[in-house]
Amino acid sequence: MRKPIIAGNWKMNKTIKEAVELVKDIKSGDRDDNVEAVLCVPFTNLMEVKREIEGTNIKLGAQNMHWEDSGAFTGEISPLMLKEIGIDYVIIGHSERRQYFNETDETVNKKVKTALKYDINPIVCVGETLEERESGKEKEVVKAQVLKALEDIEEKDIESIVIAYEPIWAIGTGKTASNKDANDIISFIRETIGNKYSKDISEKIRIQYGGSVKPANISELMDESDIDGALVGGASLKSEDFLKLINF
Ligand code: G3P
Repeated sequence: MRKPIIAGNWKMNKTIKEAVELVKDIKSGDRDDNVEAVLCVPFTNLMEVKREIEGTNIKLGAQNMHWEDSGAFTGEISPLMLKEIGIDYVIIGHSERRQYFNETDETVNKKVKTALKYDINPIVCVGETLEERESGKEKEVVKAQVLKALEDIEEKDIESIVIAYEPIWAIGTGKTASNKDANDIISFIRETIGNKYSKDISEKIRIQYGGSVKPANISELMDESDIDGALVGGASLKSEDFLKLINF
């Protein structure tokens, strides 16, 4: 009942020329219509990628945005600017932004609210560090991140949100959480949302896994009961790999 969603997070990769080539290759491959494919590209690529995916069912996402419409925020991009381009998704609170750019649970919450206001679907990233996992605190940490991200958000908006569970120790390291561990935390996130809102809405929200997802491990992850998709970094940068991922 939940449509699988595989999103490529290109991070700080691809010039405009390279982006167009990659999208052309993805477009020319076979794609399963029952899977939602999203490309979260650098700001500089958004316009060209939007043009390139016109008429296809591929969706477009940004990797961050500010919560204000405009103002003295040098170097930032506003929701109005992204809305004008016609993006479908925006990644909010990626661990790299939390780690290097002082993103906090509070700014994540502000950005989620703004995205919803502009009908942009937020992909909200949560996940624990290795140290937190080793001290058995992963559920506590993830629960706090989820609850803060959703603070003052109404139940009617929950279905527009995607949560991405990305354990930090699994990002770009080649270490994937085991299917069972990923599914365990993801079903815990679902339960947390069920307790805050309702069981009904918790069964509708889509929750992805992210962290070293690749063609070799996607199908076993997707076989798990609560994993609805993946947020993919490295393996989304090559068309043959991304096509395998969206046709898991
Ligand atoms: O947002 C995707 C991500 O952080 C995972 O990156 O390279 O481990 O797939 P990667």
